[in-house]
Amino acid sequence: MLTITLSKGRILKQTLPLLEQAGLIIAKKELNSRKLILDTNLTDVKVIIVRSTDVPIFVQHGATDMGITGKDVLLEHGANNLFEVLDLGIAKCKLMVAAESKNRLKQNTLKVATKYVNSTKRYFQNKGQSCEIIKLYGAMELAPKVGLAHCIVDLVDTGNTLKANGLIPFEYIEKISSRLVVNIASFRTKNAQIKSWIQNIENSL
Ligand code: ATP
Ligand code: PRP
Repeated sequence: MLTITLSKGRILKQTLPLLEQAGLIIAKKELNSRKLILDTNLTDVKVIIVRSTDVPIFVQHGATDMGITGKDVLLEHGANNLFEVLDLGIAKCKLMVAAESKNRLKQNTLKVATKYVNSTKRYFQNKGQSCEIIKLYGAMELAPKVGLAHCIVDLVDTGNTLKANGLIPFEYIEKISSRLVVNIASFRTKNAQIKSWIQNIENSL
């Protein structure tokens, strides 16, 4: 048996066609059901679908053999006990620092609103910029407007969300896309099966 944890939301939408191309189909009936462990067209492959931030946890602990999640999530969570084996090139965006004006970034201690606490700390530490992190779970764009922070660190794709909220992306932190990850122990014990799936998925990119 091989088990895969998929990220729900926008990553799932782009993952399903890729997996189909690689030979793994999850029927609509399964996707729309309330079941948590989903059957696929292959009797020896099962899939679970969770929030992208939970994917590394399932894979690290060996609850599933493989997983698909965003690089932003992996950078934030750390990659203990898992291999990042493939860049799937889906859900592409950038992790960036945005503010209302460049001047707002000129602070002795910069107040930064973000859900990416670890990536943000690392970035500003490497720059030698002192910062205070204000952890939010969403709607980061609001923070500079209401005086909660000088800037935000968030994902940017089209830039529409920033623009709509009067923010400008000034500093680039990381290039983000979704990655295929594998539990280290599974990679050893199910090596042939996992390698063949990596190859199938790579061929369908
Ligand atoms: P959750 O539902 O777990 O709170 P979320 O609302 O951020 O997370 P999504 O918006 O589906 O969930 O984003 C999940 C992943 O998709 C992110 O971790 C990132 O890798 C990628 N992503 C997020 N926003 C964008 C975007 N605007 N363009 C492309 N990819 C994105
Ligand atoms: C993500 C991200 C930004 C937005 C960027 O949010 O947090 O807010 O996309 O994309 P853009 O540059 O194309 O506008 P999402 O749409 O996932 O909503 P969320 O805030 O609920 O996570």
